[in-house]
Amino acid sequence: MIGIFDSGLGGVTVFKEILKTLPNYHYIYYSDSLNNPYGDKSEEDLVKITDNIVNYLLNRGCQIIVIACNTASAICKCYLRNKYNIPIIAIEPALKQVYDKNTQGKTLLLATKGTMYSLKFKELYKKYDNKAIYLKECHGLADLIEAGLESQIKAYLKENLTQFKGVENVILGCTHYPLIQKEIKEILGDVNFYTGALGVVKELKRMIEAQKLSETNKKIEFIDSSKEQRKEERFWQILND
Ligand code: DGL
Repeated sequence: MIGIFDSGLGGVTVFKEILKTLPNYHYIYYSDSLNNPYGDKSEEDLVKITDNIVNYLLNRGCQIIVIACNTASAICKCYLRNKYNIPIIAIEPALKQVYDKNTQGKTLLLATKGTMYSLKFKELYKKYDNKAIYLKECHGLADLIEAGLESQIKAYLKENLTQFKGVENVILGCTHYPLIQKEIKEILGDVNFYTGALGVVKELKRMIEAQKLSETNKKIEFIDSSKEQRKEERFWQILND
């Protein structure tokens, strides 16, 4: 069994990529919308929150865990990997992909405050800085996406992204942001998007092989910490979109 979690439904953008390559496993998707947003939480709080989730998933029998949240990955992955004796796969903003592309154009990286100010992000940025990257902390954006507030999302993007018109690449450094690619294009035009999802799929495939996890009938279980019925409906909607 494989456990996947995020602060809500953003991680479904990662899960969808996982299912394209690795459909035949038993998955539990844990949406922690009760604690959303993660992006503004202190390190201490986030470690406690994610520790509880990993503990729960372990008790449910998960053999591999995927942190489908850039913020929780950046802040908590070392703590969780040290504490638990199972593979914990963590997503990271796709800076390497843009660096490897060796592009001349400018890049805009969008992420939460938690990700942007983390030590892990600073290290990653230093490693793949091609001197043409704008960093934009998107305070409050993941909450709007989680709540599905379309007109407020559009107003937010207009106010915060218009100044970056002309960039060639956009790194979506929060798993909620791939859900609003169309709206971002309305402001920035036909940009290229990058996410860390493919890196997660690659690593998960490697771990499944290493753990000798056998394929089974595809099974997906959804859990939301707020227990709002609406969440489950939206989960299936995003997944099957
Ligand atoms: N989806 C999460 C991420 O990738 C965080 C959103 C939030 O709860 O702030 O960073």
